[in-house]
Amino acid sequence: MTAKNSTPIPLCDLKAQYQQIKGEIAPVIQKVLDDCSFIKGPAVSAFEENFGTLHGLGAENAIGCSNGTSALTAAIIVSDLPKGSEIILPSHTFFATAESILLAGCVPVFADIDPRDYTIDPEKVAALVTENTSAICPVHIYGGMADMDALNALAEKHDLKVYEDSAQAHLATWNGHMAGTLGDAGTYSFYPGKNLGAYGDAGMVLTKHKDIADKIRKYIDHGRQDKYRHDMIGDNLRIDSLQAAVLDVKLRHLPDWTEARRQVAKAYDSVLKEKGFKVILPPEQSNPVYHQYIVEVSNRDEVMAALKAQNIACGVHYPIPVHAQPALIDKGFKSGDLSVTTLIADRIISLPIFPEITEDQIQRVLTAFLDVAKL
Ligand SMILES: Cc1ncc(COP(=O)(O)O)c(C=O)c1O
Repeated sequence: MTAKNSTPIPLCDLKAQYQQIKGEIAPVIQKVLDDCSFIKGPAVSAFEENFGTLHGLGAENAIGCSNGTSALTAAIIVSDLPKGSEIILPSHTFFATAESILLAGCVPVFADIDPRDYTIDPEKVAALVTENTSAICPVHIYGGMADMDALNALAEKHDLKVYEDSAQAHLATWNGHMAGTLGDAGTYSFYPGKNLGAYGDAGMVLTKHKDIADKIRKYIDHGRQDKYRHDMIGDNLRIDSLQAAVLDVKLRHLPDWTEARRQVAKAYDSVLKEKGFKVILPPEQSNPVYHQYIVEVSNRDEVMAALKAQNIACGVHYPIPVHAQPALIDKGFKSGDLSVTTLIADRIISLPIFPEITEDQIQRVLTAFLDVAKL
């Protein structure tokens, strides 16, 4: 068999995962269908309770939402921050982080990242705080947590809210504390390719504050006080019962899947670091969950073409920083010096990582990569 014809290695293998849990998924979907309980109902309550409990919180502190974008938007909206106030976020993130801030009526201000682990740099955040700043929105990018000690200290000093965009960080920890539980609110995406992925769109807000939790629950359900009484203008951003049922099954596997991802990252790290490549270097407080495995190269196009020729998928998360996106670039939003963000956008490449990847597949990726990649 020539290399070109060898079995494809995907970036993330949703089919392999589905085959593993197929027998558990079918009955829970059937149950929702039999009950015709498509909105709210027992599947949603069970998933909220289990996700909340796993994070040391109660069911009332975990609010299922329609996706990660709506979760973050709702969390900001219910906080009643001054309209037009500034929220500091990294530019090195998925577009939705800035989108949510704008949808909530606030203004994004972009801070640079730490070159070691690509999370927002607290010192760069500090330099951007003004009297118009109302919040900080760190992103636990690739499943590694931002420096929550420094960011929370800054927030306390300046009386700012903290929203943790934990869309990529299911079960990640900082000093043993789980992502999404250290700020005022933490928001999750269950987009299918995420470490905990639905079979469609879904999301979640976690918050230890009961008043915020109650407001979010109301906001995402048309501002309802009861079935026919609406005491605020809300939206329809509820999680779907079928998705909640699927997610509750997958949640039971998440600790094992997370450990498997860490082992894959370790296998890549041990070879790539030794060869001098720059990989994610998490600080000791952080226990990342490797939503993506990132390595820097100086000849990305060449590496991507070589991997493609060997039937190996790879990606770039993300090639265009958010501040430079066509929708935002001319809007005049403030930013600090974004030299790390700009530099790494041209250098990073995401290699296949998923719990089911085999030792042989890892070796194939490494061999193909090392054949062409330049420091
Ligand atoms: C960092 C980050 N924030 C927000 C989102 C938005 O989540 P969703 O796609 O579920 O709306 C994502 C998901 O792609 C993400 O990776």
